[in-house]
Amino acid sequence: MGRLADKVVIITGAAMGQGAEEARMFAKEGAKIVATDLQIDQLHAIVQEIKDNGGEAIGVKHNVASEEDWKNVVAQAVEHFGRVNVLVNNAGITTAQGFDQFDMAGWNKILEINLTGTMLGMQAVVPEMRKLGSGSIVNISSIAGLVAMSGTNGYSASKGAVTLISKTAAMELAKDSIRVNSVHPGVIMTPMVEKAVTEEAMKGLKAGTLLPRMGRPEDIAYGVLYLASDESAFVTGTQLVIDGGWTAR
Ligand SMILES: NC(=O)c1ccc[n+]([C@@H]2O[C@H](COP(=O)([O-])OP(=O)(O)OC[C@H]3O[C@@H](n4cnc5c(N)ncnc54)[C@H](O)[C@@H]3O)[C@@H](O)[C@H]2O)c1
Repeated sequence: MGRLADKVVIITGAAMGQGAEEARMFAKEGAKIVATDLQIDQLHAIVQEIKDNGGEAIGVKHNVASEEDWKNVVAQAVEHFGRVNVLVNNAGITTAQGFDQFDMAGWNKILEINLTGTMLGMQAVVPEMRKLGSGSIVNISSIAGLVAMSGTNGYSASKGAVTLISKTAAMELAKDSIRVNSVHPGVIMTPMVEKAVTEEAMKGLKAGTLLPRMGRPEDIAYGVLYLASDESAFVTGTQLVIDGGWTAR
């Protein structure tokens, strides 16, 4: 308890999956949560759950691809809690878009949400973090942002770019004591995977994971918690891989 005491944490895509788990876990660790998502009803249910358990949280409707929405999210964080200490750029989408299924609209959409959304988030919070003289930004990439995965061109492009914009931001923001790191989940059982992956593809994903079980949202949340907290005060520009061994071979 208390590993994020008094930290104001913005988590995008917090209505379900990993983002929801991070919101729950971080509130238990003393953070004040600004949970954001497009799916407002589900988001409010998570916020209510946190409050019912004695935590502090607000929910803000948010499309991460909108610069205007980002301004509103930061304004709400400052209005309710006075500052922004941590940003978790977690919201994301996936598409099964192999080389032969390429279409321009799908390509643009995934880049807009996964990549541009991450950049807009960093741009939006940095002025507030500079006022504090510190901050931690955690960008959720993927193992697909590190190694090749078949049939995911747009997703790989977006996550590969998230890996590298995290490092360039770490370089530029280190002088302000703002840390930027990326997290690379392997296969994690969330609505994203349950919706997108066929039974046949799941066999392949299981085979690629060395440990004898699939990942769970809390496996990622524990890693993000470390990077969000002051325990990682000397960690920036790094890639935290949490993949059950997928990328070991
Ligand atoms: N689940 C996995 O196996 C896996 C693996 C590697 C990386 N990731 C990454 O982890 C992150 C979380 O994934 P998840 O599995 O929890 O997904 P999920 O689909 O379960 O949840 C994603 C959340 O993001 C929200 N969202 C989508 N588009 C949005 C937008 N434009 N603006 C605001 N919110 C939006 C959704 O409403 C949803 O609540 C994503 O960035 C994903 O790419 C997931």
